[in-house]
Amino acid sequence: MGRHGDGKRVTWWQPGVLYQIYPRSFADSDGDGIGDLDGITAHLDHLRGAPGSLGVDAIWISPFFPSPGADYGYDVSDYTGVDPVYGDLAGFDRLLAAAHERGLCVLLDLIPGHTSVEHPWFRAARSSRSDPHRSLYIWADPAPDGGPPNGWTSCFGGPAWEWDAPTGQYYLHSFYPEQPDLDWRDPGVHERIGQVVRFWLERGVDGFRVDAIDRSIKDPLLRENPPAAPGERRFDFFRGQHHLWNKDRPEVLDVVRSIRRSAEAARPGSLLLGESYIPVERLARYLGDAPGDAFDLVFDFPFLASPWEAGALRHAVEEAEAAFPAFGWPCRALSNHDNPRHATRFGRRSLRAAAMLSLTLRGTPVLYMGEEIGMADVVPSSGVVLDRAGRDAARTPMQWRDAPAGGFTTGRPWLPVGDASQVNVEDQASDPGSLLALYRQLIADRAASPALRAGSYRGLETAADSGVFAYLRQSADERLLVAISTSGTAGSHDLYAAGRGRLPAKGRLRRSTEPDRAGGQALDLRRMELAGDEGVIVQL
Ligand code: GLC
Repeated sequence: MGRHGDGKRVTWWQPGVLYQIYPRSFADSDGDGIGDLDGITAHLDHLRGAPGSLGVDAIWISPFFPSPGADYGYDVSDYTGVDPVYGDLAGFDRLLAAAHERGLCVLLDLIPGHTSVEHPWFRAARSSRSDPHRSLYIWADPAPDGGPPNGWTSCFGGPAWEWDAPTGQYYLHSFYPEQPDLDWRDPGVHERIGQVVRFWLERGVDGFRVDAIDRSIKDPLLRENPPAAPGERRFDFFRGQHHLWNKDRPEVLDVVRSIRRSAEAARPGSLLLGESYIPVERLARYLGDAPGDAFDLVFDFPFLASPWEAGALRHAVEEAEAAFPAFGWPCRALSNHDNPRHATRFGRRSLRAAAMLSLTLRGTPVLYMGEEIGMADVVPSSGVVLDRAGRDAARTPMQWRDAPAGGFTTGRPWLPVGDASQVNVEDQASDPGSLLALYRQLIADRAASPALRAGSYRGLETAADSGVFAYLRQSADERLLVAISTSGTAGSHDLYAAGRGRLPAKGRLRRSTEPDRAGGQALDLRRMELAGDEGVIVQL
């Protein structure tokens, strides 16, 4: 395959490792129980630039803009400010400078599809039908029976339309009713979001993770969505219908290009990473026709949705490899703030091999804060639910130390903290056999290896029932074999045969996820012994 890397210019983010910070839960500097920007600044040593740092290349900070908090910051009421709960702009500038000093890039969350109901644009828009802001949002008259204009459902359940009694029309919301959708058919939206993009890039940020982009354009005729096929589980089918007319419309690419133009005007080469839960073959379109035409990266969510099973993981990886254009570069996360953590989905036994998988595939990995120490979902025992869409368990505070509230806050944490006596950064930092130590080593392995950084990918034909996902990573001067066992039991595997004549019979172990299996030993690929859920990197 060799489509990438060899001899071609490689950007910082292709070999890079990104790290997602959910600011509410990373570190609290002022004891109010809620994480903040100063808390992030105080913990940058964990990420890069100090002995024992993870060594990641960039952080993506989920929203910290002023927001009433219906969707914990994804309902923005001022795109160019900082919510007082997180600090202020001066604090952001300190964070940015401190990150850049240690060579850490900073990505923000851009939420172009909707504002908060409290945003001044929407307040003005709903003040009267003739207000000039009206056209920034999507309004429609009631159906003849007085009900919603059509049957579209919102992502979080219920109708996607909310009645606005004073002006006698419905407005559209793809998510909560507190998040009215902007209308990207209106040039005023391009202009205003373009200004937001410029504001932050001129301030020095390195790019954006762009939220829910597929929702930015809807059918102007408001055509009805077809019902979901029974048992259909692809991303387009949910809440009872196939979201044909209100999601992933062809014109979404124009929105991406508009954001790209604003970004290029402010800071050429800024990174744009798109979020869209759609099948991978359609995702590829959002990369545009050439590098720098649209998004640089898009999350491969079918990969995140895969079970811990070698065949399913390989299928997801190779679907993206096949679907992406030649210049395309995959981007994968195993966890984020919207889904159960993989420690919970896959089970703890998978964590070491999952780390190796994530950090050795061709593509940019995005780590979710806490996965490096094996944090799992924490279900509040109080039964209190804060996020109406049920995502609290994956958003609980970072466990820094074996201390009250895990050292996250001196106050009362906004969500319960997991068992920090068992899982915390401080203990793992001094334990060479810990998961944290393994993440650090794998990130360093990646940084030091041309094949892992930017080499080609080729999957091996392991038997479907072997429970092993094995692949070659290759650059001009380096050839590595990675084998990941997803089976809980030890076994011997003929990877030489699976290589179909492409592999030598012998290799040398470079790294194993088993803490006591030392690198350097010679291996016979015809009889590769792997422990249950072991991952290995083998030098060929
Ligand atoms: C994205 C965010 C999610 C949010 C939604 C609406 O999917 O990741 O947290 O609720 O968009 O903005």
